[in-house]
Amino acid sequence: MNLLNTSSSYGLVAILLHWAVAFLVITLIPLGLWMTGLDYYHPWYRQGPDLHRGLGVLVAGLLIGRLLWRAVNIQPDHVATARPWERPLARLTHWLMYSIISLLVVSGYMISTADGRPVSVFGWFEVPAVGPGFDNQEDLAGDVHYVLAMVLIGFICLHAAAALKHHVVDGDATLRRMLVPGKYTSTKNE
Ligand code: HEM
Repeated sequence: MNLLNTSSSYGLVAILLHWAVAFLVITLIPLGLWMTGLDYYHPWYRQGPDLHRGLGVLVAGLLIGRLLWRAVNIQPDHVATARPWERPLARLTHWLMYSIISLLVVSGYMISTADGRPVSVFGWFEVPAVGPGFDNQEDLAGDVHYVLAMVLIGFICLHAAAALKHHVVDGDATLRRMLVPGKYTSTKNE
């Protein structure tokens, strides 16, 4: 089983990092929306944000790992059936998604540390607050965090729709090679 990427396929490490970040992001969005609507007496009033912050810091670590892994590995070429206009669009979408997720982490950290308190990650360790912050930091960072999460939902839908279109309409290996490491020849219906 390939751990490393090749010019036509993803290795196991890249696949696991992709799905771990995807799973966490898709969990964090509904968790964030749900927990902000809880009233003070709800049993999850504190646990919800604690879980959200811990998972958010985990995303930050995985994202850094993913970008480093990407930097030291070959990136597989687009499948041979990808249209010329799809290639730059896919690349742009992927970089925008990395940027939005990074900014979500930074704004989430700024909301959480606006009062000078560190972020506790499941009680395992703390990410210290850097300060002093600025006036209204919690509210401003909260607005940015919310808008970025909504924009990210749009990108996730676009990204998933493109993957499904490659699988169902084009019948190529775009989705399969992000699910199972192996040999792909990048041609139609291989
Ligand atoms: C990919 C990563 C993340 C995603 C997708 C995400 C998503 C969300 C969403 C959808 C909300 C609800 C926004 C609202 O209704 O106002 C939220 C709220 C929140 N998030 Fe995140 N988040 C992420 C990372 C983080 C991180 C790393 C932290 C802190 C270290 C964090 C801290 C918070 C806090 C404190 C709130 C509550 C804001 C408020 O009460 O207005 N988030 N997040």
